[in-house]
Amino acid sequence: MQFYIMTLFPDMVMDGLNTSIIGRAMDKGLLDIEAVNIRDYAFNKHNSVDDYPYGGGAGMLMQAEPVYQCYEAVKKKIETKALLSDPGTRKSPRVIYLSPQGKTFNQTMAEEFAQEEDLVFLCGHYEGIDERVLNEVVTDYVSIGDYVLTGGELPAMIMIDAISRLVPGVLHNDVSAEFESFQDNLLEYPQYSRPEIWHDKQVPAILLSGHHANIEKWRREQSVIRTAKNRPDLIEKAKLTKEEQKLAEE
Ligand code: ADE
Repeated sequence: MQFYIMTLFPDMVMDGLNTSIIGRAMDKGLLDIEAVNIRDYAFNKHNSVDDYPYGGGAGMLMQAEPVYQCYEAVKKKIETKALLSDPGTRKSPRVIYLSPQGKTFNQTMAEEFAQEEDLVFLCGHYEGIDERVLNEVVTDYVSIGDYVLTGGELPAMIMIDAISRLVPGVLHNDVSAEFESFQDNLLEYPQYSRPEIWHDKQVPAILLSGHHANIEKWRREQSVIRTAKNRPDLIEKAKLTKEEQKLAEE
């Protein structure tokens, strides 16, 4: 899978992603991440890409033209790659604009985006981007939560992390992406590793029993209890048995 990030801070994005699991997946060729500097498409001698907003108001706006030229360059890269691998194909990539005004990102969206071959992220800075270029190039407006950040880079990195781990081969163990938080709208159960006793706290005996069916049942119950306590909004969406429903209400 290939990600392109249109940004004014390419180092921030690449330094952040080029480590650990995502970095290893890049080395293995499972993921390709390219940050494209919008400033390279500045069209004046000062290399500036921002200007005052019409109508007044605080701060500066990113101008339409550099963003558009950057998008055209990314689109060309994608088209060239598609033509090489499958002549005759032409496709426009999904372009995600990170903004608090977008739809809130969640696991279902990560799963949907993970089906794409190419994804383009557009990171805004200052007070945002000229609306006209957004209308021309953006296909998806996505927020990572109800708070305002200084730019779209961290949200893009968060999305790329969540999407990448769903790409086959990126996690060591493909099953682990399936059986965890938000599967069935339940949070993950508690986990323990060695030693058996730590700070006078014992690992739950059932986990040492070797009885897999009982362990699965216990884990599911713990997920229900934890979700009911921490995320009652999710419990409403989870498909629970009558018994589990009771557990959630306790
Ligand atoms: N840019 C600034 N704040 C943001 C947020 N909460 N989500 C996505 N992009 C943003």
